[in-house]
Parts: sequence; C-alpha cells; structure tokens
Amino acid sequence: MEAYSGFAQVYDFLMKDVDYDGWVDYIEEIFISKGCKPQTILELACGTGNITNRLSKRGYDIVGIDISNEMLALAKNKAYDLRLDIKYLNQDMRQLNYSKKADSVICMCDGFNYILEENDLLSVLEKVYSLLKEDGVLIFDISSYHKLSEVLGNNVYAENFEDISYIWQNYFDYETNLCELGLTIFKRQDRLFSRYQEYHYQRAYRVEEILEILKYIGFINICVYRAFSFEKIQYKDDRVFFVCKK
Ligand SMILES: C[S@@+](CC[C@H](N)C(=O)[O-])C[C@H]1O[C@@H](n2cnc3c(N)ncnc32)[C@H](O)[C@@H]1O
Repeated sequence: MEAYSGFAQVYDFLMKDVDYDGWVDYIEEIFISKGCKPQTILELACGTGNITNRLSKRGYDIVGIDISNEMLALAKNKAYDLRLDIKYLNQDMRQLNYSKKADSVICMCDGFNYILEENDLLSVLEKVYSLLKEDGVLIFDISSYHKLSEVLGNNVYAENFEDISYIWQNYFDYETNLCELGLTIFKRQDRLFSRYQEYHYQRAYRVEEILEILKYIGFINICVYRAFSFEKIQYKDDRVFFVCKK
C-alpha cells in the first residue's frame, strides 16, 4: 500500500496526544520572534490539516499541500465541519506546481524527512525560496538523525487499543541514512479486524547538511532550535526546528 493510504484512517487517532494547539502557539511565537506578521501561509505535507485548520481558525490565509489524497480528504472534511475556507492541493512537494507567493512557508512534523534524496531536498527548498515573499519566513522541523537511526531504527514498537492496534517494525541503513518504517495496522470493523500494511521511508539528515543547503540557497537569519523552545539543540533531541528568512 502507498504510504499514508491505510495509515490515514488511523493517523488522527495515533496523534491524539500531540499538542497541536501548543504547536501552533509555537509557530506564532516564532513569527513574533522574527518580527513577522504573515497573512498568507503555504503549508507543505499538511497531512490531515491539524495545523492548517488551526492556523486558518486563527485568521491566516493558508494553503495546504500533501501527496496523500486520503490524508487530504480528512483535512477537507474537518475544514468543512469547522466552516473554514482552506485550499487543499494534492501535490508531491518535489514537483510543486504552485506559483502564488506567501509570507511564510511551513512544513511540520517531519515532512521533509520524506524527501529521500539530498538533491530533491535542495530543489524543494529552492522552490520554497522562490515562493516566499521578500523577508518571508520558512519554518520546518525534522526528526533528528539520532531519532531515526537509534530510537526508531532497528526497533519494534506496538500498541494495542480496543479498536486499533499497530506494529511498527523499523530498519535503519547507515549506508543510505534511510529508515524503513514498516507499519501493520489492525482496525476493527464490527466483530473483525482489517489488516493494513504499508511502508514509509524517511531520510535521516544531519543538522549540518540542512544548514549547508539553506545557506547555499541564500536563506538568511538561520536558527536551529530544540523543539518548542528557542534553546540550542542537544545530541539526543528527537525533533529539531529550523527557522530562516528569505
Ligand atoms: C508525519 S505526516 C505530517 C502531517 C502534518 N504536517 C501534521 O503535522 O500532522 C507527514 C505527511 O507528509 C506527507 N508527504 C510525504 N511525502 C510527501 C511529498 N513528497 N509531498 C507532499 N507531501 C508528502 C504525507 O502524505 C503525510 O501527510
């Protein structure tokens, strides 16, 4: 199965403990710290719209882009229920067909780890640069090299709930820096369970590799933060935020 097809059905359930309101508070704190008051935001890899919808509710004019139709269908349903006017586009961020400039571009919850080739990451970030207005802000986070190689990689995780269970069996390849995340999901349908299997691949990037790309493109005021703070990162941090300006 394609990544995020079966998983889309359980994504919000499995993310239920993520503090998305706090996440959006943090994005707004970053805007303030950079002296920027964006009106228009482009969100890449927006998934089921958990951040998109919240930013829209707070008054931003936001467009969400994701490669998974199944994730977007959920995002659109939630936006419809909340009476939010959001444009959701089904696109691969490696081949963005979008030209409207934005005050800010964001990519949250490790969307860029899904770009497996460094050259592709360079071209996505070049396109992002061209889509930002002068002085615009780019914010994204990645799962750290440490997390993908030592926490998730070569480990098995499982959880067993009443209606949903999953097994997550992961392999990390130190040659390619790719983490294969093999996900088996069991979802109750009446008295039986349906079983879905899908594989996700994430690339572990070192902070230095990303900094080099951002500088090469011409981004300025580049900051690297430990998640949900303005502090320096530590070796064992699992999530790293990058903030920079055009
Ligand atoms: C971990 S989810 C994050 C979703 C959302 N940002 C959130 O905070 O909940 C990663 C998302 O990246 C999307 N994705 C992966 N590769 C992509 C690509 N090449 N172009 C656009 N979206 C992509 C997936 O479909 C998925 O929705």
